[in-house]
Amino acid sequence: MTKETAEGWSSRIGVIMAVAGSAVGLGNFLRFPGKAYENGGGAFMIPYFVALLLLGIPLCWAEWSMGRYGGGKGFNSGPGIFTVLWRNPLSKYFGTMTVLIPLCVYFYYIVIESWCLMYAWDYLTGALMQGHAPDVYKAHFATSTGEGGDGILFGVGSKTLIFVGITFLINFLVVFRGLSGGIEKFCNIAMPLMAICAVCVLVRVLTLGTPDPALPDQNVLNGLGKMWNPPASFSDTLLNPKTWLAAAGQIFFTLSVGFGVIIHYASYVKKNDDVALSGITASAVNEFFEVCLGGLITITAAFIFLGANIANYTSSSFSLGFNALPNVFASMPGGQFFGFVWFFMLFLAAITSSLSMLQPVNAFFKESLAISQAKSIGLLAILTVIGTGYIVYFSKGLRALDAVDFWAGEFFIVVLAIIQAIFYGWILGVKKGKEELDRGAQLKVPGFIQFILKYVTPLFLLVLLVTNFIPLDGKESTISKRLNEAMADPVVGGALGLVIGSIILCMIIAHIGEKRWKADGRYKNL
Ligand code: ALA
Repeated sequence: MTKETAEGWSSRIGVIMAVAGSAVGLGNFLRFPGKAYENGGGAFMIPYFVALLLLGIPLCWAEWSMGRYGGGKGFNSGPGIFTVLWRNPLSKYFGTMTVLIPLCVYFYYIVIESWCLMYAWDYLTGALMQGHAPDVYKAHFATSTGEGGDGILFGVGSKTLIFVGITFLINFLVVFRGLSGGIEKFCNIAMPLMAICAVCVLVRVLTLGTPDPALPDQNVLNGLGKMWNPPASFSDTLLNPKTWLAAAGQIFFTLSVGFGVIIHYASYVKKNDDVALSGITASAVNEFFEVCLGGLITITAAFIFLGANIANYTSSSFSLGFNALPNVFASMPGGQFFGFVWFFMLFLAAITSSLSMLQPVNAFFKESLAISQAKSIGLLAILTVIGTGYIVYFSKGLRALDAVDFWAGEFFIVVLAIIQAIFYGWILGVKKGKEELDRGAQLKVPGFIQFILKYVTPLFLLVLLVTNFIPLDGKESTISKRLNEAMADPVVGGALGLVIGSIILCMIIAHIGEKRWKADGRYKNL
């Protein structure tokens, strides 16, 4: 038995904080406001809440139940847990998806995380206080991220590389310290600190009034309206499949559902701990950060200072966060302080998520290869340095980052969610699943959730998956577009190769792992 199997959470609040920490991330403060604004503001919230109720929360409960079930049988990694649920040689390969996604998302997520730390530093030193100067901030972003050309971030003394290195080091040190001694302790401090920072920025934004009397329309109320008012016609948004896809994608990303994280974290929960209440609490914390904080700060602040120009910044989460907001901080009283607080908060939000991406892979290596924490962390460091190195090196137009984000952070998440829904609803079975969910639960999950999990969730997910393969709006399908890009551009092709290579590696390790588990007699008492 590896050391990790003896590990666990030290308190119930600790595991909730860790799961909520995984969920609350850049998705809440940058991705969500951008998606909502682009997809009809208030009207976006209808598909958003439908996806939350039919996909997000049910799948979250399924992950908690399957994770605790597998953990109770002595397994803490997705491939192991899946073989417990279904004693079939294919199970472990399906289970590798729970490792692939956190591993590949980590490759690029850590890069954005390091930009946040670098921007916080730049506010601290005053380097980013340059007045209302859109071109300056655009140029600063391009230089910091190496958008202008491949390889330009590499070189002795490269500031970006130094911040990527620092961010890497902090992540690995925390994960090395273990589940309760590292991740849990870190999240217990980071989550409240993050909330304080977010509330601090929110109060500043909501008390801005009408900063420029010459532009009376650019006030707080109108800023909130930009985010929340529905468009003149609901039908444009609600009848457009793209809105539904965007909403469902956002729910997965933000809750870290279909990531392989919750199933792993839940495997350390004790047999009679309440997973139903813990699951809904962690989701509620995430929704508070997303809707009440992210949804009130980002677009509101940007509109008050940028007015109609805000439309130039909403097409990507990066422009909104890294280009639009520096103009805002430069124009608001106390901007240097609030700029620092904002980017430091983003860094905290990101790091509690990236830790949750390293840990499932670490546990998988230890469980499959029977190696020590130090060796497993070493192997993980080599792999992530290769993956992240690729993304940092091929920085031109951020196309390597974008490609890995699509395959790991959008496409395979849906694939894993389908696999999990089938394992829960059809292999473990909803009857057993409900027993597992109800055991030790103060919160009784309504029976219809099992119906949703068995029929509605997989169907909804299949539709989501299929829409990737069919042309919408008369344009080529998403998959065909992405594959064509991969063929046309070796860097994009290489990024896809990175994801495929990771799948193959995870499958080989899972194969080795299963042989070992059989030899160890770990399947005997299932
Ligand atoms: N759930 C994490 C986020 O929202 C990945 O960023």
